[in-house]
Amino acid sequence: MPPDKAKMGNIFPNWTNWLAIKVLICLGAMGTAIIALAWYSWTPKYTRVGYMPQQPIPFDHSLHAGQLGMDCRYCHSFVENSSHSNLPAAELCWNCHSPGKVKSDSPKLELLRQAMDPNYENYTGEPIRWVQVHETPDYAYFNHSAHVNRGVSCVECHGRVDEMPVVYHAKSLSMSFCLDCHREPEKHLRPLDQITNLAWEAEESDRDAFYAKLASSKGVEVSELQSADEKAGMEWGQELIGKHLREGWAVNPPQDCAACHR
Ligand code: HEC
Ligand code: HEC
Ligand code: HEC
Ligand code: HEC
Ligand code: HEC
Repeated sequence: MPPDKAKMGNIFPNWTNWLAIKVLICLGAMGTAIIALAWYSWTPKYTRVGYMPQQPIPFDHSLHAGQLGMDCRYCHSFVENSSHSNLPAAELCWNCHSPGKVKSDSPKLELLRQAMDPNYENYTGEPIRWVQVHETPDYAYFNHSAHVNRGVSCVECHGRVDEMPVVYHAKSLSMSFCLDCHREPEKHLRPLDQITNLAWEAEESDRDAFYAKLASSKGVEVSELQSADEKAGMEWGQELIGKHLREGWAVNPPQDCAACHR
């Protein structure tokens, strides 16, 4: 045995070497796991941002929800009451696009006539098979109504759908995307009557109406609320609105794994 090694053996008991090796192996394994996870999350195949499948009927949100001003809930009618946000049935389109009404002979509406018009020669009665754009993996739990009824607008997670001729996946909807908001919800909350107004801007919204409503719900004077905000250095805008809504509804989005991975 070389002399220096014998000396080390005397200073450190044998098991310390093993401990060091174990610690190194552990760190190595953790590092690999972290790198693998990061790689997995950042590869293009994994992120769905920009995904814009062709739909069986070229349905245009920028026309129906934008120009014509139809509310999202007219078609996605479960979004406030259920975890799932439904797509409209062909009957709903038929309200406007049946014979004698809007563009009923349009070649773009061929599949709709096949689905809905028993007098049409190519009638099949087949529902329209829309291609799903957004999809959370099975192992993650998501609920629309929990968000929509707590001041989170569609625009936060789907972007400006009211300006999209073809719907595409606008936001990442990754785990860190969810958590960024769960940590600081006040940066995103808005009054419930503005949830489907995707063009809403906090700074330009009605300040007097907001304070009036808040004051009456708290049973205090408007001036009292305003001067408290001024003293705290809060300016009119998203964070001020979000802070009051968060307090008023006692909003506390979960960050524990089990809330989303059930
Ligand atoms: C006239 C009915 C109608 C209105 C109004 C409407 N939508 Fe849609 N929406 C549809 C149809 C039909 C589809 C499926 C075809 C497609 O993706 O374009 C759809 C698809 C979507 C999707 C993609 C669903 C998926 O597969 O992931 C989102 C998100 C969406 N709509 C959000 C909105 C929002 C936000 C509004 C309000 C600004 C809105 N929609 C208004 C009918 C409508
Ligand atoms: C409230 C009435 C209304 C409803 C409901 C409605 N649309 Fe429309 N749609 C319109 C109007 C208005 C236009 C514009 C017509 C024009 O350009 O003159 C239009 C245009 C269209 C066009 C373009 C037609 C062309 O040839 O330019 C398509 C495709 C279409 N709608 C599909 C749908 C589908 C699919 C649904 C159901 C998910 C639906 N619409 C529901 C009113 C409606
Ligand atoms: C906090 C994020 C968030 C908000 C807010 C939100 N969505 Fe979604 N939306 C999602 C996610 C995530 C999915 C994919 C859900 C799945 O796979 O079950 C989705 C899916 C959808 C779908 C496809 C059908 C479905 O449920 O899978 C439609 C339509 C839709 N959203 C419409 C809307 C509308 C309209 C609003 C506003 C009233 C809205 N969403 C608000 C995150 C959100
Ligand atoms: C823009 C803000 C925002 C985003 C983005 C967001 N959340 Fe939330 N989340 C909230 C708020 C606000 C609540 C309500 C908390 C409360 O009521 O105390 C909530 C509540 C929840 C809850 C608890 C309620 C329930 O349904 O059991 C779950 C789970 C959840 N979110 C999952 C998700 C997932 C998964 C995503 C990403 C796909 C996501 N959230 C994205 C703001 C957000
Ligand atoms: C607010 C909801 C939410 C919470 C809280 C949450 N997750 Fe997730 N997690 C998700 C969603 C949504 C996905 C799917 C992401 C996607 O589709 O890109 C996901 C994906 C994952 C994945 C797959 C790899 C990846 O990064 O996409 C792992 C691993 C994971 N979560 C572990 C955890 C652990 C561990 C915790 C607790 C520290 C946790 N999650 C807390 C929503 C959440």
